[in-house]
Amino acid sequence: MRKHIVAGNWKMNLAYDEAEELLDALTQKLDEQPLDENTMMIICPSFPYLELAEDYCHVDPDDEENEDTYFMVGAQDVSANDNGAYTGEVSAEMLESMAMDFCIVGHSERRAYFGESDEMIAKKVNKLLEHYISPIVCCGEVLAEREAGKQFDVVRKQITDGLFHLNADEFANIVIAYEPVWAIGTGKTATPEQAQEMHAFIRSLIAEKYGKEVADNCSILYGGSCKPGNAKELFANPDVDGGLIGGASLKADDFMAIATAF
Ligand code: 13P
Repeated sequence: MRKHIVAGNWKMNLAYDEAEELLDALTQKLDEQPLDENTMMIICPSFPYLELAEDYCHVDPDDEENEDTYFMVGAQDVSANDNGAYTGEVSAEMLESMAMDFCIVGHSERRAYFGESDEMIAKKVNKLLEHYISPIVCCGEVLAEREAGKQFDVVRKQITDGLFHLNADEFANIVIAYEPVWAIGTGKTATPEQAQEMHAFIRSLIAEKYGKEVADNCSILYGGSCKPGNAKELFANPDVDGGLIGGASLKADDFMAIATAF
């Protein structure tokens, strides 16, 4: 059975002490109400807070033998280059050396504001896999594309150009997040039917390329104004395996309510 995943994308939010407070509140809630075994929580803070999140993620930080964690930690982006003269960039090798398990790639904000192409996203995916980090690869159409009925073409191209150079073994490490751009931070959520329709389409693309088993094992997350009030009906769909959560991941109560909505 593929994993249920709830991933918090903190984006460029929180001062250091606020991040500490949120992690305090979250781990306290996870002590009171542990997640079920098939649900994985991932926290993706900004680069300067990765180590802090790592410090909080172990249930018993003093017991080195005990690998129980409250959540996994992921970065929000990675460089497409190896270490070297790229001021301001963070490499996959650095993330590996900090024991990162996941990294978001190709978020629509990076595509829109930093000009990331599918080709660059493919390079970032390769770097992450070289360093044993699972990419959470984002795709999704903008409003004009949906209104023109082009959403499936757009997502097909993003998935094909960003990921389908991988072989089946490599692809097994990929998590996909479908985030319709018109639903991000707008309060407008895709309907459960719209989400299921696109997730099933993405899974069919994977099945066509890599076969049914690989497709059935791939977790496909929904992102875009996912909140405690709508998570249950979104996650109830057979092809929606969880969420990539922005705003609501900044509040411990809301994020926990989403993480327990399966
Ligand atoms: P919101 O949940 O704030 O709409 O953001 C979604 C998102 O972009 C997660 O990556």
